[in-house]
Amino acid sequence: MKPLMRSRVDEGEGDKLSGTSSKDWSIGLVKVVSFLVIFVAGIVIGLSVSAHGVRNFSSRTELFFPTPNYPPVCENKDCLSIWSFINPGQLTHEMTDEEIFWRASMVPRKEEYPYKRVPKVAFLFLTRGPLPLAPLWDRFFHGHEELYSVYVHAPPGYKLDVSETSAFYGRQIPSQDVKWGTFTLTDAERRLLANALLDFSNERFVLLSESCIPIYDFLTVYRYLIGSIHSFVESYDEPTRYGRGRYSRHMFPDIKLHQWRKGSQWFELNRSLAVNIVADTKYYTLFRKYCKPSCYPDEHYLPTYLNMFYEPLNSNRTVTWVDWSKRDPHPATFGAANITEDFIQSIRYNGTSCLYNSGQTNICFLFARKFAPSALEPLLNLTSTVMKF
Ligand SMILES: *[C@@H]1O[C@H](CO)[C@@H](O)[C@H](O)[C@H]1NC(C)=O
Ligand SMILES: *[C@@H]1O[C@H](CO)[C@@H](O)[C@H](O)[C@H]1NC(C)=O
Ligand SMILES: *[C@@H]1O[C@H](CO)[C@@H](O)[C@H](O)[C@H]1NC(C)=O
Ligand SMILES: *[C@@H]1O[C@H](CO)[C@@H](O)[C@H](O)[C@H]1NC(C)=O
Ligand SMILES: *[C@@H]1O[C@H](CO)[C@@H](O)[C@H](O)[C@H]1NC(C)=O
Repeated sequence: MKPLMRSRVDEGEGDKLSGTSSKDWSIGLVKVVSFLVIFVAGIVIGLSVSAHGVRNFSSRTELFFPTPNYPPVCENKDCLSIWSFINPGQLTHEMTDEEIFWRASMVPRKEEYPYKRVPKVAFLFLTRGPLPLAPLWDRFFHGHEELYSVYVHAPPGYKLDVSETSAFYGRQIPSQDVKWGTFTLTDAERRLLANALLDFSNERFVLLSESCIPIYDFLTVYRYLIGSIHSFVESYDEPTRYGRGRYSRHMFPDIKLHQWRKGSQWFELNRSLAVNIVADTKYYTLFRKYCKPSCYPDEHYLPTYLNMFYEPLNSNRTVTWVDWSKRDPHPATFGAANITEDFIQSIRYNGTSCLYNSGQTNICFLFARKFAPSALEPLLNLTSTVMKF
């Protein structure tokens, strides 16, 4: 059997190289190659021996088989501990977006976790600097440390000034410049998602800004989000120049006009959708190329993408309340003078009901924007009586 196959291979090679002289040539080549292999192996062994020991062997092999800049850096005893894998703990790293999106897109095939997993809500704060309402959030988070994690994307170089006891302390992720209205904003949102996905206990992901407030107590928010079979990303078809008018024909045929959606950027996603979003290259690239002012990727990418691929999983509504009633290009901002018990109550229960799982609920919103720094004091006064935290 063996000789037969052998001769077939020879025939094949003979066909390609045509003629015995080239066969001789190829035998010569084999000799040269084997000589080289032995020679290089000799050098490697020689070097490693002269460097006293096996420890240096890997660095020597890099001389011949250079790897990209991923030097072995772990000096802990247990670099492969399950804990550092499921929750890397510290948030600083030097991964590029490309690297972290790749890493964050990994999903375990096994359904059972090898540890007692308590699902957490990841609060993703996309800020332009300070967090004036942090004391309100700290009161909201207090006592629920096992059930949430906080991530802050502030301008590069900005250092958040909060006390060590704050939920925001040490929670800044490596960031990049954000220009409102451009894809850098959507990049920042995806960066927040990717960093939060590294903690395998994070199950739901809420995007917030420095002007957002919670309007219910933590456990109400937690149960509402963890228990929902839907994600909360506003997504609607707007047949005007502010909606369909921002669609670009260059996106056809991958994205069709009837699939195009609009919605608020303030999303809430479950883990599997968050993974799909950091893993998407194709549609994100189309948006990056063709959704430029007056098309705003933060208002169209997620609503359209979810509508195209995951529409039964989305509630199509947002859980972040905002007041557009002033017919202004910007939503209303509320300061100290506007904060009353009635006002906050009217956001909590405004008389309409919303679809939740397969039933109805009179809780439509969990968060609200936009609130000025001056609103902090009166809001803190209302937490125990109105918001119940
Ligand atoms: C996300 O939500 C969808 C729809 O409810 C569900 O099928 C999926 O299992 C959820 N993923 C996770 C990780 O909870
Ligand atoms: C969200 O809208 C899509 C159509 O865009 C629809 O198929 C889906 O059922 C809606 N989701 C809910 C929960 O109503
Ligand atoms: C907030 O209160 C001020 C002062 O009473 C008022 O002028 C303003 O219209 C209020 N803003 C909103 C959004 O209601
Ligand atoms: C309550 O909120 C819903 C959803 O934003 C809105 O459609 C409705 O008009 C509001 N109702 C009142 C009475 O403000
Ligand atoms: C907060 O409440 C205290 C006492 O309950 C009161 O003295 C203070 O004026 C209130 N502050 C604001 C801004 O409402």
